[in-house]
Parts: sequence; structure tokens; C-alpha cells
Amino acid sequence: MKNCDLIFLTVGTPKSKSGFIDLSMIKNASKNIGISLRHSSKKPIIVVKSTVVPGTTTNVIKPLIERASRKKAGKGFEIIANPEFLREGNVISDTLKPHLVVIGGSNSNSVNRLKKFYRKLYDSKIKFMITNTQTAEMIKYANNSFLATKISFINQLSNICQNIPGANIDDIAKTIGLDPRIGALFLNAGPGYGGSCLPKDMKALISFADKIGINPTLLNAVEKTNQKQIQNIVSLIEKTLGILASKRITVLGTAFKPNTDDVRDSIAIELIKKLLKKKSRITIYDPKAIKNTKSVFGEKIIYARSITDALNKSQCAIMMTHWKQFEKLNNSSIKYMNRKFVIDCRRILVEKELQAEYHAIGIGKI
Ligand code: UGA
Repeated sequence: MKNCDLIFLTVGTPKSKSGFIDLSMIKNASKNIGISLRHSSKKPIIVVKSTVVPGTTTNVIKPLIERASRKKAGKGFEIIANPEFLREGNVISDTLKPHLVVIGGSNSNSVNRLKKFYRKLYDSKIKFMITNTQTAEMIKYANNSFLATKISFINQLSNICQNIPGANIDDIAKTIGLDPRIGALFLNAGPGYGGSCLPKDMKALISFADKIGINPTLLNAVEKTNQKQIQNIVSLIEKTLGILASKRITVLGTAFKPNTDDVRDSIAIELIKKLLKKKSRITIYDPKAIKNTKSVFGEKIIYARSITDALNKSQCAIMMTHWKQFEKLNNSSIKYMNRKFVIDCRRILVEKELQAEYHAIGIGKI
């Protein structure tokens, strides 16, 4: 770092046990950056890309670097908040073609230096949002919490649709998505949002709002709706199978979304935990996430090598992640199920006319 002009701070900011943001990694990294700057003749820009609650760059990161480097911000180094909007599974294309670059800083000289760097990296059409650090930090939370809000909204409507015979949540999402004021993305109803970002950022924003005396009623409802979504699925299984102890249940897809092996804060993992509490016997299949699922459950569940193996003798199959290969599932794949009861949380098989007790989340049974 001694000879660098730009230092990007990109470490994780996970959820702490209390639900607030865990800044230990960022604090450590800040101290190390500071130490490395002690004997440097450069005046680098420290670019904070990690997701941090408003005020963290100025009140936590900056003083730590100042103390460790024995230099003052503005003199020995500059600091800028520059949140990113990468999605797992799309990291390379999102890095190469971001929809915009947010730069938050108080020193126009360093803001321009960073802007110049990004201009070289991207084509001339790239959009910039230049603002102060606390607003830049808040933009990231606004972005993720709005996405979570869209998902909880569509999930709530999907629950309503499920109780209107013949109603179809996908037709509704597609239609309202055509209204440019609404937008088509993030309206896929499902078992709730998971992953290492939306749930922890919602929690961090809620705790932050509480801490500064704002009651985040809407954000709380978004989170509650998300938690409830998984309970609705458990209730549906119980309604059909009765007591779940020793029932054989298959979970198809444990990754928090397709095209990743990541199971952190995956809704499927939450579902399995709930079913294990009820003493069900769980078999799972996932094209990529078996290894990571094993590190959560060890020998407590069975890991199948194929969809058909996973369904063998099962009394209920729940499709949690929209993996492309699940679209191939048909009547012959469910042939050896003990009870042909399928819950399709992503409406993958709606068109298939499966000879089964088939429930698609968001589609009202006729
Ligand atoms: C999310 C944001 O989308 C990124 O913009 C952001 O940069 C990133 O968090 C971050 O903060 O680092 P990611 O966690 O990769 O990205 O996942 P998403 O694609 O947002 O999906 C999150 C969850 O929402 C998944 O469980 C997914 O299945 C669910 N989802 C998404 C739905 O249920 N319906 C939808 O329509 C979209």
C-alpha cells in the first residue's frame, strides 16, 4: 500500500450477533492501512467500497487511519465513500458495466481524481453521482432496502393470489412491471429474500434508524413479511402431511439464488432448520451448493447426487432455488416419490401438468 495512489477498502461488514453491523474487519483493515501509510510519501485516496452505515467513513474509519498513520485526513491521505452494487453471480459484468458510480467525499480534488480513474476504466457514457460521504453510505442502504421492499411486496401479493382461485402472481408482476414508475425487476415472488446482503443490510438499517430515534415501520414490515414467508411454506407442508416428525422431505436448491454455491442466509437453509426442529428427515439436492450445505448440517441430512435420487421415497418436495436444470423435472422424475406432493416456490413447473398434489407459490388453486 505504501506506493499506491488509490487504496480500495472492500472487506465484509457482516451482521453482528445483536443484529447491528460488525465493523471488526473494517476496523482492522483501517488500522493496517494507517500503519502502512506511516512512512509513505504518497497522499493516497482511501476508497471505502464496503457497505457501512452512515457516518462510519468519517467517524470510525478516518480516525482509525489518522491514529495509525499519525497523519491527518486531507493532508496525509484522502477518504471517499464509493459503494458498489455488484450482484453475486454477476460480479464481473457488474464491475465492468455498473449502472452508475457513486462518489461521496468532501474534497473536490480527490473526488475528481477518483472520477478520472473511473473514466479511464469505463466508457465515456458512465453516470456519476457525486455527493457527500454520509449520503453515499446511505444510498447503498436505500438501494438494498428498496429491493427487499419490492420482494416483500410481491410476496405479500403472492400470498393473497394463492387464495384467489386461478390468480397468477407472475402475470400480475409482468403487468405492473411494464409501468415505468414500477419497473420489471425484483418482482419474482418466492420463499423470501436471502443471501449475505439484503437480510443483513435490512437489519443494519433498522438498527441504525432505531438508534437515531426513527421508528422504521415500513422496513420492519418488509423484514417481518420476509420471515413470515418461510413460515407459510412450513404451514402448507403441515396442512398436507400432518405431523412432520419422521416425514421424508426433499429440498431442491439450497443456494440463496441460482448460479452460486453460496448458502449464507439462504431461505432454504432456514427452511431445513425449521423442518429438522420438527424432526423431519431431509434430503437435499443442489447443483453447486452441496459442499457448503454440508458445512452447515453435516450428517443431519442426506445429500443426493441427482434430482431423481433426492425424490426417491420422498413424501414432499420443495423447490426453493430456480436452477435451470429443475425445469427438466417431470412426471417420470417424481415417479418414485412416496407421496407426490410438490411445493414449487419459484413456479418452475406451472406449465408442466404434473400428476401430483402440486402447489405453486402465488398461484391460486382452482
Ligand atoms: C444484492 C443486491 O442485488 C446488489 O445490488 C448488492 O450490491 C448486493 O446485494 C450487495 O449488497 O453486495 P445479491 O446479494 O447478490 O445482491 O442478491 P440478489 O440478486 O439481490 O438476491 C437476493 C435475494 O432476493 C435472493 O434470495 C433472491 O432469490 C431474492 N429475490 C430476488 C427474489 O426472491 N425475487 C426477486 O425478484 C429478486
